[in-house]
Amino acid sequence: MPEAAPPGNSPSVPGIPLCPSEALAERGRAELFDVRLWGQAARAFVLRFDGRPVAYVNRCAHVPAEMDWQPGEFLDAEREWIVCSIHGALYEPATGRCVGGPCRGSRLIRVTVDESGGQVYWYPSQDVQPPAAAAA
Ligand code: FES
Repeated sequence: MPEAAPPGNSPSVPGIPLCPSEALAERGRAELFDVRLWGQAARAFVLRFDGRPVAYVNRCAHVPAEMDWQPGEFLDAEREWIVCSIHGALYEPATGRCVGGPCRGSRLIRVTVDESGGQVYWYPSQDVQPPAAAAA
């Protein structure tokens, strides 16, 4: 699969194919993907919210633990908030800002994503890099 040109505000790194656009239903289940966060293996997720894909490292701002209550299930029953399954922190899906719970005011670590030609791409940053096997 060809790499994508970076989105307007992203550094000049190529996009990494993540999933087909149709895999992300509005406020549906997230796609999980492997990354390295600060050099350590980690997981990230992408979901569609208000029509746009948004992605974050799967790591709560309260305790560095994965948040999904089942694999790929991050949203609450009303499909309004990303909810941490451990102590119930609530995050705004569009911004990653914690609006309730023990880490109120903190943020999830965003992963830049873009969508073109029916494909979703993610863009590495200084903090969030491809998994080791893909980085070679
Ligand atoms: S680990 Fe997420 S709210 Fe405590």
